[in-house]
Amino acid sequence: MIQTRAQQEGLPHTLIVSSFIAGAAAPPGATFERRNPANRDDVVTVATQSTRQQVFEACEVARGAAGAWARVPAPERGRVLGRLVKLLVEEKERLSRFIAREVGKPLREARGSVQEAIDTAEFFQSEGRRLYGQTVPSELPNKELYTYRRPIGVVGLITAGNFPIAVPSWKIVPALLTGNVIVWKPSDDAPGTAALFFELLRRAGVPSGVLNIVHGAGAGGAGEFLIEAVDAGLVDKISFTGSTAVGRKIGEVCGRRLQVPSLELGGKNPLVVLADADLELAVEGAVWASYGTAGQRCTSAGNIIVDRRAMPAFRERFVRRAGSLKIGDPLNEQNDYGPFINQRFLERWIEQRATGLSDGATLLLDGKRLGPSDSVPNFSGDAARGLYATPRLFDNVTIDMKVAQEECFGPTVNLIEVDGLDDAIRVANGTPYGLSSAIYTRDAHAMLRFKEEIRAGMTSINNSTTGAEAHLPFGGNGWSGNGTRESGIWVLDAYTRWQAVNVDLSGRLQKAQIDLTDAEDSSASPLGAARSAIP
Ligand code: UN1
Repeated sequence: MIQTRAQQEGLPHTLIVSSFIAGAAAPPGATFERRNPANRDDVVTVATQSTRQQVFEACEVARGAAGAWARVPAPERGRVLGRLVKLLVEEKERLSRFIAREVGKPLREARGSVQEAIDTAEFFQSEGRRLYGQTVPSELPNKELYTYRRPIGVVGLITAGNFPIAVPSWKIVPALLTGNVIVWKPSDDAPGTAALFFELLRRAGVPSGVLNIVHGAGAGGAGEFLIEAVDAGLVDKISFTGSTAVGRKIGEVCGRRLQVPSLELGGKNPLVVLADADLELAVEGAVWASYGTAGQRCTSAGNIIVDRRAMPAFRERFVRRAGSLKIGDPLNEQNDYGPFINQRFLERWIEQRATGLSDGATLLLDGKRLGPSDSVPNFSGDAARGLYATPRLFDNVTIDMKVAQEECFGPTVNLIEVDGLDDAIRVANGTPYGLSSAIYTRDAHAMLRFKEEIRAGMTSINNSTTGAEAHLPFGGNGWSGNGTRESGIWVLDAYTRWQAVNVDLSGRLQKAQIDLTDAEDSSASPLGAARSAIP
């Protein structure tokens, strides 16, 4: 399925990937290229665009495989995930290097993101031996009640490129474990990484047809066809990670079919620093939350909200620390961050400068796109071929400004001054988003109030907004999602439906709610019998 093509001298091979439906590669057709964002001359992957017909076919093939896969005992499905863990561990370095090349993620972080997939598969391997339902007491005698988790059916997965194995694993792994069948449309920023992960899933023993992959770039591509397939009745559930705007459209289509999609959308995550905070720690955490991964995590900090008493010292240290960040080739482990993942994110980041200035914010760090003639200390990348930029920091921001309200995937963050805890919480809750959040303080009472009053799905106390662990519920509120959660036991609800079963062994028709009350005082009822047995 995966072929490579020798590239021009000095550059690594290009991966040639295609859709994979019913265990077979789709025939050649129109293709799109994925280039290394740190070196645009390097064609990392060439992928075949899936047609509408192929996407629909993938859904039908998955439907055909659904019954047999659902009947495989859950511990057996878990065993497949156990083999996946082994393969991911063996391939971790190769995958991490490929991720660094394909999406520009610094190698250390790329390794962490593969580890996140390993952790996820490890967790769900053993969930195959639980996948608990309940036994529930009946209100009637000789009657038993049970609950079972049942798979939803054909699930369509649409994933983003910034965590090209970790986030797909959050969906694919629990969906498989719970007995669903899958059509996966990975990001057009990471078709090669997706193909490598897909290959490992197949080698782990996921049967043909149970997992299918389709590729596409741009509007009118495979992602849209997969949503059309929902309208056509071919898909039972969508799980999407991406922008709020696209999530809204997906939600509308799924709503028409009375389906609940899993939507993991944008964020404008607040990081609060109170006057009593450990400033060194807060600066370290805020710089990492803002500029780590070049700000391209949905959990990246968007607004740093600082008490006015701490602001002068915080500002001074933050500027110094951010100004010393090393930028360049993601494969060079000395670097703190690499390039933009794609041209679109870069352009939006460029526009954000004008937005902030017209809002009345001021620039403390005037980050700029690096060109070949720029000589910038701490930069070691290839500015002529890579999509690099230095950090941007806006000061004098207020929460009502557009720059404080809109998500921008890139190395940029805002400083907002507040007066005390109440003001900090009000400002932290002042955007329509609610994904991640953080507070730096030593005051236990402030920690408690922040935990209780922040309207985000995830909250860190004295830690970065980023870096959620793979077995805690991940997800947001408001514009950040529709309340569904990924990871840990909580994601099981996203890929299963509860079935309630009652088994009546009494040999007669027992009417719930009705027979119980009538029988209460009769000596024939268990309660009556119990009463008359007491002397
Ligand atoms: C994302 O950016 O979509 O919590 C996921 C974090 C990572 C996952 C981010 N574990 O920052």
